[in-house]
Amino acid sequence: MKKCILIYPGNEPIGQLLLQNKELTPVDFIQRQFPDGESYFRLKTEITGSRVLILCSLHQPNDKMLPLIYMAETCRQYGAKEVILVAPYLSYMRQDKAFHPGESVTSKIFSSLISSHFEGLITIEPHLHRISSLSNIYSIPTEAISSAPMIAKWIKANMEKAFLIGPDEESSPWIEQISQLTGCPFVILEKLRLGDKDIKLKIPDLDRYSTYTPVLVDDIISTGITMMQAVKQLRDAGFNNIVCIATHAVFSGIAYDELSAAGASRIISTNTIPHASNRIDIAEALGRYL
Ligand code: R5P
Repeated sequence: MKKCILIYPGNEPIGQLLLQNKELTPVDFIQRQFPDGESYFRLKTEITGSRVLILCSLHQPNDKMLPLIYMAETCRQYGAKEVILVAPYLSYMRQDKAFHPGESVTSKIFSSLISSHFEGLITIEPHLHRISSLSNIYSIPTEAISSAPMIAKWIKANMEKAFLIGPDEESSPWIEQISQLTGCPFVILEKLRLGDKDIKLKIPDLDRYSTYTPVLVDDIISTGITMMQAVKQLRDAGFNNIVCIATHAVFSGIAYDELSAAGASRIISTNTIPHASNRIDIAEALGRYL
């Protein structure tokens, strides 16, 4: 089946890397807003009978969802055999239960919306914690690709004598995998979240690692509070050279500047979301699943 890729505006850096695979035909289109704010979309490439991959990383998802649904349904209307969402960053994975009475479990609502407009979903390192598999909430075939091998490759190539730190229990799966791949020792911190920008971290005694470089690895940096708190406590414990690595560079507001100011020596991310901190490529791994 012919494979086409429609690159949602803003996803060009990773889209261009994926297009190095000559089997993928780029889909040309016009997307704009009418003066009243409604969306206009027009396909300019023949896609009849094709598998259409729509590449759209879902940070700031609210603005993207309606145009994305129009794209998917228009591809179907013009004969796409199947329409697959390729979302290097998958949003709405964190509100996965009602923590207080009356709260919306947005993970489930969002997943049923995506499932009703796409035939498949491919993503990188979705935030799986209480929900152990995407298939628990998505009714379409899904592929969740681990970023751990790419992060491990970067650490091996760029760090000497590192020890890995997972900021909370949720980080255990990827920290353990990166530790196995790099041979670096690791510790997992205890985190208590009290609010969006209010957390408490418990750091164990790290004296045995005093000659190592601490490398914090998390799936997402959003407000940056988790990394900032960890960096501050590591500095208090006597570490000066502290590296922060995240798969998804969400960085809300001035989070990146605040994390630098807190004392992170290097802030590194994968290119699931375009950002100045992108140093680790996931396009090659992603390309194998398209
Ligand atoms: C926790 O559930 C996640 O793995 C991250 O630790 C968290 O999302 C980071 O968010 P923030 O940067 O706002 O602390």
